[in-house]
Amino acid sequence: MKTYRHQLFTSVIEEKIIKNILKAGDKLPSVRTIRRDYGLSVSTIQKGYDYLSFKGFVKSIPRKGYIVSDELQQDKKAEDKSIVPFSVDSDFRHKVSITSSRKQKFLGGNLNAAIPGDYIMPQKLVLKIMQQIIREKGAALLRYYPSNGSVELRELLSKRIARHGAFVPSEEILITDGALQSLYISLAVITKPNDIVAVESPCVFSILEVLSNLGLRTVDIPVRHTIGFDTDYLESVCKSSPIKAIVVTPNFHNPTGISMPEAKKKELYAIACQYDIPIIENDIYGDLYFGAIRPSTIRNYDDRGLVLTYSSFSKTVAPGLRLGWLSPGRYFSAAERLKFSLGRSVSAINQEMVIKLLSSVAYDRHLRFFRRYLQLQAAEITEQIRTFFPEKTLMSTPDGGFSLWNQLPQGTDMVQFFKSCNDFGVSFTPGKTFSLTNAFDFHFRATFFENITINTLHFIREIGLSIR
Ligand SMILES: Cc1ncc(COP(=O)(O)O)c(C=O)c1O
Repeated sequence: MKTYRHQLFTSVIEEKIIKNILKAGDKLPSVRTIRRDYGLSVSTIQKGYDYLSFKGFVKSIPRKGYIVSDELQQDKKAEDKSIVPFSVDSDFRHKVSITSSRKQKFLGGNLNAAIPGDYIMPQKLVLKIMQQIIREKGAALLRYYPSNGSVELRELLSKRIARHGAFVPSEEILITDGALQSLYISLAVITKPNDIVAVESPCVFSILEVLSNLGLRTVDIPVRHTIGFDTDYLESVCKSSPIKAIVVTPNFHNPTGISMPEAKKKELYAIACQYDIPIIENDIYGDLYFGAIRPSTIRNYDDRGLVLTYSSFSKTVAPGLRLGWLSPGRYFSAAERLKFSLGRSVSAINQEMVIKLLSSVAYDRHLRFFRRYLQLQAAEITEQIRTFFPEKTLMSTPDGGFSLWNQLPQGTDMVQFFKSCNDFGVSFTPGKTFSLTNAFDFHFRATFFENITINTLHFIREIGLSIR
């Protein structure tokens, strides 16, 4: 992604706020000081401060200048640290139906889709490679593959993971039927029923379902606008409750699209080490970055096998491939046995398919196009919601991934909102599907995985205007 001149000073301020060197209410350097220190123009400095205000880091005080915002601290006071027992499963089917994008055709726009739309999926490429594989491998594809997965595939993944700085030897990787299976295996080998697991709030429904099926209790850790998973909050929870695992998506969390800054990833790892709590790290969106550099993982810092990292090709290629992986750290032996008992080995043709993708430039070329496409669509939806929704609507600002998290002002007529969505044929995901306690009543997730047309933008505008 393009870098802006104002980042010369905004990145310094951001980092100081994240590390708590600058605290709520602290005065920030004046335009004149920044101009002198960095040689930037007044308009660039102004753009920088606008950007920091938009991200919730700073606020402007008339005649005084800029100070560090207290937004983060206020959010923290508002939460309580309740532990939620097993999920009530009565609305499981309802949630499955509202989170499964293909069940219904939305004529206005499918902004509910959590998987790449048909238009963006590399269909031709996948089918061409599959035909090639069938010709080349023939009957070999009909046998069992090694239960941990093809050696070649694990080696390719290991090399790929090394590109963003994490060391994961191929022998420590298990090929799985997708990210959700990796999560299931990770939780099942670490926990027993009734254990308490720290999870993100909001949290995607599929993760909550796995936790619920394993009979686990959860404690919600807020995902903050600027820093993602709130490590201070987690630390205070760890002091008072016996947390057995931490489930986190540090890069482009679903539904908020927010990522943890590097310093926060390190902090999270330090807390996990201090309390000896395994981190189950979901990196399913890590390749969907809009910036210039692929973000790192918490695994990058792990030297004691405490981080179990997993991912899949469901969000970057196609969910129907059912191809994921897990690097279970110190839990490898137990995870390997459980993986075996869950289904012997993963489909051979799909493994060969991904081998071909990763051993040529095809996957990276596809990703370059894909990221650009997602970034453009994110900008279009953001602009439309910002312009036409009620003034106090809060939105996340994703730097990658596929979703925007929106909060309508308290008191918004949500019945009218969803009626309008229905009338215009636009599907958003209701906020309440992202928690076990039906929180987030005024939130909704808008995804940009499907092709957004002029009509969709027009309908978003009409929906916004209908609740103003
Ligand atoms: C956070 C998260 N984990 C896992 C999944 C499912 O991934 P997979 O299809 O690889 O099992 C999804 C998508 O639905 C998801 O958003």
